[in-house]
Amino acid sequence: MKKRVYSGIRATGRLHLGNYLGAVKGMLAVQDEYDCIFSVVDLHAITTPYDPKTLAESTRSVILDYLAAGLDPEKCLLEVQSFVPEHMELAYLLGTVFPVAELEDLPTYKDKKAQHPKYVNMGLLYYPVLMAADVLLYKGELVPVGIDQEPHLEIMRQIARKFNGMFPSAGSGQVTFPEPRRFKTEGEYVPSLTGEGKMSKSVEGSYINLTDDLETIKAKLAKVPTDSGTLGGSIPQKGGVANLFVLAYLFGGKEMHHKYVEDYKEKRIRYGEMKQELSQIIYEQLVPIQERRRVLEANPEKVNAILKEHAAKCREIAQGTIKEVKEKMGFLQI
Ligand code: TYM
Repeated sequence: MKKRVYSGIRATGRLHLGNYLGAVKGMLAVQDEYDCIFSVVDLHAITTPYDPKTLAESTRSVILDYLAAGLDPEKCLLEVQSFVPEHMELAYLLGTVFPVAELEDLPTYKDKKAQHPKYVNMGLLYYPVLMAADVLLYKGELVPVGIDQEPHLEIMRQIARKFNGMFPSAGSGQVTFPEPRRFKTEGEYVPSLTGEGKMSKSVEGSYINLTDDLETIKAKLAKVPTDSGTLGGSIPQKGGVANLFVLAYLFGGKEMHHKYVEDYKEKRIRYGEMKQELSQIIYEQLVPIQERRRVLEANPEKVNAILKEHAAKCREIAQGTIKEVKEKMGFLQI
């Protein structure tokens, strides 16, 4: 049996370079080798303020970005989370084995609470349990996600362990759930264009979308804060300049990175030039994705057919897990 891989991205509209390098590139790297399910997690997207008028479009948009980036519907299953209601059923069941205090302690929960003090709902607290249910529903072992998701993966492993311990399998010695691990990529942490923190959809000016054109990318990079270019010495560890170097490495490779490191050391770096070159390189990598996306946008029926067919396949697997879990938990079987 091939290993099962599961990952998801919230339905918050167009993907940015952080999502692409941290998650989608990982998905692309494993789709040939493993049994993969990649999802648009719309149920997670409603835990923070959102607009019901645009949720459906945002969900479709992530699916289009997945397909345009090269996820192959012949090789992996593409899922819209809410099409498979078993996610919610398993989340409820798993929620009964996990302490509330540990959920309240999670940094992601605390951050979101601080960001939206008037929108602290049960769904937000439950977020990591639903995320655990997403992966465990399919007995996923590998999860291609960025480094920011590590605390959620730790909760996932704890829930799996707890469940396996509380409801052991009779005789076989086989546990119900594997303990999922993160599949890492080189771009597991893509920094923000603002020079602070990570690239994030919720921070204006921090990101480049996969659908941005060359002029937009240039304008965004132009705003990255830099220094005088005459400091010399080693590259700063944080801030705009540090982040430009990370992007140069991720998109231009060792060679481009090395060239600008030398310029920096020798106090002759010209950020304008570096930003132009970087814009061009980023854009060139996005062009084929954008071209494929335009074709898909014109074919909504084809995309819908894939989603319907894949939802049915996902539900079949999901129902098997729910049946097993309910049996183990002692529910009446007739
Ligand atoms: P979300 O929607 O915030 O982000 C989607 C994916 O993009 C990655 N990512 C980044 N990687 C590197 N650098 C960045 N700056 C950056 N920004 C975002 C994230 O790590 C993630 O992989 N909780 C998840 C969604 C989820 C999920 C799941 C993931 C729900 N259920 C089950 C995997 C398995 C989230 O909020 O991702």
